[in-house]
Amino acid sequence: MEFFIDSADIEAIRELCSFLPIDGVTTNPTIITKSGKEPEQVFAELCEALTEDQKIIAQVVATDYEGILAEADKIASIRGGKNIVVKIPVTREGLRAIPVVKAKGISVLATGIYSPDQAFWAAKAGADYLAPYVNRMCNYGDGVGQVIELVQTLAQYGMEAKVCAASFKNVDQVHQLLAAGVPSITVNPDTIRDMVGHPGTAIAVDEFTANWEKAYGRTTL
Ligand code: G3P
Repeated sequence: MEFFIDSADIEAIRELCSFLPIDGVTTNPTIITKSGKEPEQVFAELCEALTEDQKIIAQVVATDYEGILAEADKIASIRGGKNIVVKIPVTREGLRAIPVVKAKGISVLATGIYSPDQAFWAAKAGADYLAPYVNRMCNYGDGVGQVIELVQTLAQYGMEAKVCAASFKNVDQVHQLLAAGVPSITVNPDTIRDMVGHPGTAIAVDEFTANWEKAYGRTTL
């Protein structure tokens, strides 16, 4: 399975990649604007911070068909196209563009998905990844359950598109999708930190050290 960081915060990306086997980074226009940097600078820093084996997944901003195609080509040229995936929202124009972008040999992630039915059509259009916005879907119903159902629907039809679950506000949402076997997921840095850090672990380690030091007068083996 693939685990991505949903962020353009280079410091957070470097920090998490320094101790976790991260498969790449996903961004969107809002995430890039939050960096306070020019998009070209963000992409350059991502290329520098990540290895070529880690994917960079970046989104088109244009909303018209021609514009989406042009921006897909632009994104696909980042880092010579190595492990680059173009995010295209599942609007009518986006759904029309997906098979055309795919036919050029460019990997596509269909994004802005609020329902399993939108995801189904993006899969049928040839998208490699489908990004349902789990937390936002929870505003309308059982977002987690709908995404689990989507994974099953794709398997049922032998569709190759992989769900890349996105938009999380807490660890439990992530946990439920991992437990259901979601093939890929993108999570913001704070929620990733919450996944790996537990106060109980720190207390246990402090206790080991204190007991060892009391018995042997040192804190190493
Ligand atoms: O990858 C999609 C994601 O960035 C949307 O997340 O937190 O804006 O719902 P959010």
